[in-house]
Amino acid sequence: MDARDPLAHFRSRFHFPKTNSVHDCIYLAGHSLGLQPKAAGSYLEQELQDWARFGVEGHFHARNPWVPYHRLLTQQTAALVGAEPSEVVVMNSLTVNLHLMMASFYRPTPTRNKILVEGGAFPSDQYAVNSQIRFHGFDPASALLELTPREGESFLRDEDIASLIEREGSSIALILLGGVNYVTGQAFNVEEITKAGHRAGCIVGFDLAHAAGNLPLHLHDWGPDFAVWCSYKYLNGGPGCVGGCFVHERHARAWNLPRFAGWWGHDENIRFQMGPDFHPMAGAEGWQLSNPPILALAPLRASMEIFAEAGMERLREKSVHLTAYLEFLLHQSLQSSRGSPHFTLVTPPQPERRGAQLSIRLPRAGRALCARLAAEGVIGDWREPDIFRVAPAPLYNSYQDVYQFVQRFTAALTQT
Ligand SMILES: Cc1ncc(COP(=O)(O)O)c(C=O)c1O
Repeated sequence: MDARDPLAHFRSRFHFPKTNSVHDCIYLAGHSLGLQPKAAGSYLEQELQDWARFGVEGHFHARNPWVPYHRLLTQQTAALVGAEPSEVVVMNSLTVNLHLMMASFYRPTPTRNKILVEGGAFPSDQYAVNSQIRFHGFDPASALLELTPREGESFLRDEDIASLIEREGSSIALILLGGVNYVTGQAFNVEEITKAGHRAGCIVGFDLAHAAGNLPLHLHDWGPDFAVWCSYKYLNGGPGCVGGCFVHERHARAWNLPRFAGWWGHDENIRFQMGPDFHPMAGAEGWQLSNPPILALAPLRASMEIFAEAGMERLREKSVHLTAYLEFLLHQSLQSSRGSPHFTLVTPPQPERRGAQLSIRLPRAGRALCARLAAEGVIGDWREPDIFRVAPAPLYNSYQDVYQFVQRFTAALTQT
């Protein structure tokens, strides 16, 4: 499979961590922090050189002038998430963008004030949502609505999401779900959820932290009101890298929407007149606050170039096979353990309901097992209380990585 893989050569364009053992690193943590593209250093170095050479003049005279620098990422970002260029902007980090979007799009009223989230959403999302509810004078005890799987099941059923939206829709102001749940790896049907939410009169937004660069997305056509994501997971932008934000075209000129303003969202034609009145730019760029961190954007450019070359559709095609192979080998490992399973898979088995990640529930001594594997250079990550998450990233992982991972994982299990 590796010999026939048309994307195999991209692996050599990434740095793999060094290990202390004789074995090479098996890196299956792209769902947490993607690997460094080898070209990232030269992109960064160019900006450091231009800063040294031009000082403040670099804003207009650097080889890639810094004032419009964030736009070097716009086309590729729009292509990645299936949006019009005017619908996306690369700015801030995820939780900041989530707050900015909720400042505009969570408009609770006495009768419609609830936010619908997935139960056990990423903690930062829970804190953000609860604080927004309180900020508007409501109580999360009544205004937060959580979707939870049925008794004994580990992920949500599509029909349960749809029926809850239908049942409760008239009291829901905002539906905010992940594109892919960070614990279970379940991918949600963004299009259907958006349609159901809009039918019920709700605003619909998505946290695509685990979906961007993992699944093909068609945000413009699917029609959510907004989406936010980070760029350090599948997008390999580096630790704490600048995130992305999508605002649907239908809101591009919604000047009556309240928003938290900053000078980088102000009409660029009159930005440097330094006037006191805020005139937002049309589209997603109108939600920017600050001038962008050039040194954080530079490495992301290296990765987005690679994504543009590889193409999301081809990456997804490989990803489906790679993750199915991982699942197949894990099932084999379970069968050979002769009826005393040490683990279960909590990620949906249907390819359309998951991305690259598989989440393995390890009831016994799982944390220690993961730490031991990590010390040997077999890297996934652990989420309390009992989940080991692994994700073969199609851009740099091979079928051999997957095979070797399952060998080492099974061996470690039998030693526990
Ligand atoms: C689903 C999800 N939401 C939010 C965050 C928080 O992101 P940030 O620290 O960039 O705000 C993360 C980080 O891993 C995440 O996985």
